[in-house]
Amino acid sequence: MQQIKILNIVGARPQIIKASAISRAIRTHFSKDFAEIIVHTGQHYDKEMSAIFFDELEIHKPHYNLGVGSASHGRQTSMMITGIEEVLLKEKPDCVILYGDTNSTLAGALAASKLHYPVIHIEAGLRSFNKSMPEELNRIMSDHVSTLLFAPTNAAFKNLMSEGFKPENSPPYTISNPKIYLTGDIMYDNSMFFAGLAEKKKAGFLSDMSLERDNYVLVTIHRDSNTDDILRLKEILVTLKSLAEENNMKLIMPLHPRTIVSLKTRLKELYDDLSRCSYVIIIPPVSFLEMILLEKNCRIIVTDSGGVQKESHFFKKPCIVLRKETEWIELVKNGTAKLVDADPLMIRREFLSYINSPDVLEYPGFYGDGKTAEFILNEIRLMFEKELSL
Ligand code: UD1
Ligand code: UDP
Repeated sequence: MQQIKILNIVGARPQIIKASAISRAIRTHFSKDFAEIIVHTGQHYDKEMSAIFFDELEIHKPHYNLGVGSASHGRQTSMMITGIEEVLLKEKPDCVILYGDTNSTLAGALAASKLHYPVIHIEAGLRSFNKSMPEELNRIMSDHVSTLLFAPTNAAFKNLMSEGFKPENSPPYTISNPKIYLTGDIMYDNSMFFAGLAEKKKAGFLSDMSLERDNYVLVTIHRDSNTDDILRLKEILVTLKSLAEENNMKLIMPLHPRTIVSLKTRLKELYDDLSRCSYVIIIPPVSFLEMILLEKNCRIIVTDSGGVQKESHFFKKPCIVLRKETEWIELVKNGTAKLVDADPLMIRREFLSYINSPDVLEYPGFYGDGKTAEFILNEIRLMFEKELSL
């Protein structure tokens, strides 16, 4: 069989990290089977939101960078669709791989499906059931034009079934006869793979940040619902600052550029106050290895990130989720993540309960065996083999 040509579409930080699991599995196990073209939409473009991951995670530099940058949803997505369509017409891949739920995912799904390229969606089926989130719209629309859908959790697989996807479909798979799989999570592959390396390569990072193992709080905030609503952002940060002071624990906050912009332009007084506080360390986004180190060694994580919620589980840390709902509901059912919205009382209650709790928390293996990327690539290969034999 000829090599299968895949077009890997990335754009936002977590997608670059996710794509590294697929790239690594191709390099180590499937180099004869797949040729990979990487398209970067340019949704994220600052060095620490993009280039740093290509360098550190040893991913091939993008073959195409569409350089779309930041814009309103419609404008950004339409520029991506135009760029991706041009690449598709030139490269004529066998299939397109998409990750997650960003505008880059949706643009890839629309451009590829309209040109009749099979779409492979990794992280399919996740739902928050909150359609006011841009990500929820992106996920639903991307899933419904996909041919192979890889659901990372039982809940995601069930969501697909309840939307009419049939696990019993048989080949040949098409957009009208899609196949759904329950896999693990490729981010678990990544965290397991890079955890040891992070300790070795970033040995001095914690002391450089003046952090003591097991005695600091890792905080990330980037959802538009938190960054663009300054009342919420203020309540979250004021509450966390006082919890840090009262409990003599530092807060380390590698902040997304949009959060920094909100703070500096709309909450300047609070930003200055936080910058002066010896318990608060605000830094620009960190590399994935640095992030793993911060996650592995903290006492507790506070976040609104999807990826960081799961990583809290991989590294066995309790997690306070600054949202009303989550797609990773198994964490909440397990009691190791708590949804607190942006409510100061709930943040305080759950934070204190975790740090003072004598209970030993359990972290069952919800996310596969660390070989999800291999499983996915094998299924893609089988799809093309079956197509040839039919
Ligand atoms: C996007 C995704 C979100 C994902 C997040 C991962 C959508 C709708 N949202 O949100 O699902 O969780 O990425 O991080 O696709 N900015 C910079 N430099 C950059 C990138 C962004 O300064 O390199 C600033 C710009 O002011 C921009 C803002 O961040 O307007 C938002 O960026 P955007 O990519 O639109 O959304 P994210 O919040 O990053
Ligand atoms: N991450 C990182 N550096 C940071 C913040 C996050 O490497 O400063 C990683 C994090 O470990 C996770 C991913 O980025 O793997 C999550 O991305 P983000 O929170 O931006 O988006 P989400 O997962 O919510 O879509």
